[in-house]
Amino acid sequence: MCGIVAYIGKKQAYPIIIEGLKRLEYRGYDSAGVSIFSDKLVVVKKKGKVSKLENAAAAANTTGTIGIGHTRWATHGEPNDKNAHPHLSGNGRLALIHNGIIENYATLKKALQNLGHEFISDTDTEVLVHLIEEYQKRENLSLSEAVRKALQKVVGAYSIVVMDENDPDVLVGARKSSPLVLGIGDDELFLASDATPIIKYTNKVVYLNDEEMVSIYRDGTYEIKNLHNEIKVPTIHELDLKLEELEKEGFEHYMLKEIYQQPTTIKESMRGRLNADEGWVLVGGMQQYFSRIMNAKRIIFAACGTSWHSALVGEYLFEELARIPVEVEYASELRYRNPIIHDDDVVIALSQSGETADTLAALELAKEKGALIYGIVNVVGSSISRITHCGSYIHAGPEIGVASTKAFTSQITVLTLMALNLGYKKGTITEDYFRRLLFALEAIPDKVEKVLKQNEKIKYIASEIKNVNNSLYLGRGYNFPVALEGALKLKEISYIHAEGYPAAEMKHGPIALIDENMPVIVIATNQSAYEKVISNIQEVKARKAIVISVITEGEEKIKAMSDYFIEIPETEEPLTPLLSVIPLQLLAYHIAVMRNCDVDQPRNLAKSVTVE
Ligand code: AGP
Repeated sequence: MCGIVAYIGKKQAYPIIIEGLKRLEYRGYDSAGVSIFSDKLVVVKKKGKVSKLENAAAAANTTGTIGIGHTRWATHGEPNDKNAHPHLSGNGRLALIHNGIIENYATLKKALQNLGHEFISDTDTEVLVHLIEEYQKRENLSLSEAVRKALQKVVGAYSIVVMDENDPDVLVGARKSSPLVLGIGDDELFLASDATPIIKYTNKVVYLNDEEMVSIYRDGTYEIKNLHNEIKVPTIHELDLKLEELEKEGFEHYMLKEIYQQPTTIKESMRGRLNADEGWVLVGGMQQYFSRIMNAKRIIFAACGTSWHSALVGEYLFEELARIPVEVEYASELRYRNPIIHDDDVVIALSQSGETADTLAALELAKEKGALIYGIVNVVGSSISRITHCGSYIHAGPEIGVASTKAFTSQITVLTLMALNLGYKKGTITEDYFRRLLFALEAIPDKVEKVLKQNEKIKYIASEIKNVNNSLYLGRGYNFPVALEGALKLKEISYIHAEGYPAAEMKHGPIALIDENMPVIVIATNQSAYEKVISNIQEVKARKAIVISVITEGEEKIKAMSDYFIEIPETEEPLTPLLSVIPLQLLAYHIAVMRNCDVDQPRNLAKSVTVE
């Protein structure tokens, strides 16, 4: 996601916008830009953080009392100066900033090119400003009307602000699926992605609703209407939040905020890639090399940490749904053992940051050996996304907390879509099961919301085991990687020793560790290995373990055997990890908070391990 700030009033706009962009950098920081009007439109935009923009703007004339600013989290077009926002119309008259994804940008771009429009950037955003220009020119419309007409042609998510060099007394904003807030000051008005750039000047805000647009005027008036030109009566909120809280949107830590973002981020990972009603999945990143991936003799996943756990889930998904042999490798091991990799292998790297040194090096080695290399990353334009032949972005937005949470579920969402896309084309999955999985996948965000509602219960369980020194996480099948991930979460933020194991493996040694001081967290949602998990629980109970189980709603047997239990909604087995991991993320989070650990920046860790 990106950060948007706009100002119109009596003060100098530039300082307000720059300071506002700095407050929004948590939303994205791969490039930034401003457009200010004094006697003409001045645009300054640079790759890198807002501080880089400030240095560049020092040489420009940034005086003026109307302006827009943007800090980018790239979705289309890698981070560089030309892809940075604001984007200009072909006649240089309009400047636009955008947060979101224009899904039908390619179709619109082609139509505009046929009308003679020429484009400078690789972004979807530039298409939108040219479309507004086309309406303005063709029908001689006001800025507001041209924006309204253009947005009726757009499919996707947007929050935008547009300014017009020929009409410097108005700014026009609009939103759909991406937030936009109007700030109402004394003879000055603000637009921003959230209230953090505004709160210093006013606590009076209006949250725009989907498919609403707003015109804000220099005389301090404003008008809100929908895309059908119907005037809307605004609801003015008086904020009483502190600024710091707002950056975390009221959450105590970025990690908790990112755990709660998962219904949205899972939806974003699916956006434009499936439609259950129409019965299709299409992972764009695979299409150019689809047959090579579909006919791969072997798929090798290479990753580290949480991404390695996602890769393990991927192994179960690809082998069950697409019947392609899969190997999962720690990137750090793969790169040093002179692996046997052939040109009919496909090597898929998973990495939130796209910068993990071992993963990057493993990919480069695979590329040298002739394999097709594919990247599943979060950060657009990151090193891994630039060296791979093809890949898919997970669109989870910036993950600030060092402990990865939303990236894990978004990686798994993309892996599920890839396995479904391949399996359906290969015919290794029945039409009926394919459709069932599509509907089940579309229902996951709402089910994650349901699991999050058990936060208080999970917090209570955390309080009961916060002082233990060791713990064991057990899972089978799809939930074995979830057991590993739950253990990693606990150890990396609460510093309690935790191990994840395949539930059956516990008998081959770790059971010797179990006594009345050992909590054993069992992810027991499996339909296929249900009876086996029950006997595993009996074995640990016989050694007096504290049993905490993650079970499917309505399950009774395991509930009766557990000291504590957390229920998750029923779903198709391959999708279980998207739900069963949520309680483990929250459990680790609350224990860490209760132990006064630095949740967002745990000791000894870094968000991206760019060293070997
Ligand atoms: C996960 O909580 C950790 N922060 C860490 O294991 C992380 O997953 C690992 O370093 C891989 O990072 P990447 O996904 O950016 O490659």
